[in-house]
Amino acid sequence: MLLEVRNLTKRFRGRGISVSRRKSFLAVDNVSFSVQENTIFGLVGESGSGKTTVARTVLFLDPPSEGAVLFRDIPLHELSSRELRMNRRRMQIIFQDPNAALNPKLTIRKSMEEGLKNRKIEKTERARRIDELLELVGISPSHKDRYPHEFSGGQKQRIVIARALSMEPDFLILDEPVSNLDVSIQAQIINLLLELKRKFSLTYLFISHDLNLVSYLSDTIAVMYSGRIVETGPAEQIISDARHPYTVHLFSSIPGAGQAQREGQAAALEAAGQAGAVQAGAVQAVAPEAAGQAKAPQKSVNTGCTYYDHCSRRAGSCLEAQPDLIRVGPDHYAACYYPVARQGIANT
Ligand SMILES: Nc1ncnc2c1ncn2[C@@H]1O[C@H](COP(=O)(O)OP(=O)(O)OP(=O)(O)O)[C@@H](O)[C@H]1O
Ligand SMILES: [Mg+2]
Repeated sequence: MLLEVRNLTKRFRGRGISVSRRKSFLAVDNVSFSVQENTIFGLVGESGSGKTTVARTVLFLDPPSEGAVLFRDIPLHELSSRELRMNRRRMQIIFQDPNAALNPKLTIRKSMEEGLKNRKIEKTERARRIDELLELVGISPSHKDRYPHEFSGGQKQRIVIARALSMEPDFLILDEPVSNLDVSIQAQIINLLLELKRKFSLTYLFISHDLNLVSYLSDTIAVMYSGRIVETGPAEQIISDARHPYTVHLFSSIPGAGQAQREGQAAALEAAGQAGAVQAGAVQAVAPEAAGQAKAPQKSVNTGCTYYDHCSRRAGSCLEAQPDLIRVGPDHYAACYYPVARQGIANT
């Protein structure tokens, strides 16, 4: 496994004078997942659900409050800061806003040189690599002495990608890499990322609030809500058989979405040669103890499911305890006491 994230938790200490403000805030709550080499793992969820916090803690840019991150079986928390830096070269992150990533006072060449210099690559070789990388991402090397403001948003993101590649990473975290760009440019950048993935056998953690896009790209998907993973599984399972009410809601809030569109996405994946056959095999029944909880009296304070207030399938028992991920299909898990029935089977 390239990356394993185990029980990752991140608490931010509150700032401010009042007691309520000082209360610590759980941004990521017991999140576990693993990313297989050469695949795309899609992490999807609404704004504030904790996606960027997962990304930053996975890279130890912010240390996790609890939990472990293993990169190629190496537990990152056991590394010295020097060892961590060396390992992190293999893990690069690309954020939404290329303006924040590029120093406006440095030419593109200077920006790209920094990492190569740190790696002790000598001058002529640095120049050769910068030209090669810029060419690779579709920027003319003759423009390398220009400043960031002389490029469009899409071009800047291409430059940021080239700079990340200069570190020769195996693993890229792409945190909403196209959501700041014009729709017409988004597809070009996505295609570039797919091309680079093939060329260099890269592995991606692709973060987005857009389930449509994540479904199209990913081999495996995890849906986050309020700091937790509420559903995860192979992309084709999530697309054809979403089980958590929140995932179903995300699909239905895609404009024009519905079963036809989901089938369209599956067809697009198939066409792109990325989709495996939808896994056959019976979906496990929901744990009987979950069904038994339906009679419990309703509590006024919610110590249970964080999706309760918005859920179309809630019952009193959902307030009792936070639902854990339970198996609902092959490699497919949902954190819900009353998951949506499997496609084609009547709801119970
Ligand atoms: N440094 C910080 N200090 C305190 N709270 C933080 C910090 N960083 C993030 N948070 C809080 O943690 C929660 C998760 O934020 P995060 O940025 O991870 O969400 P996100 O899913 O990436 O959202 P978006 O889609 O808007 O990028 C939010 O409520 C946010 O306000
Ligand atoms: Mg974010």
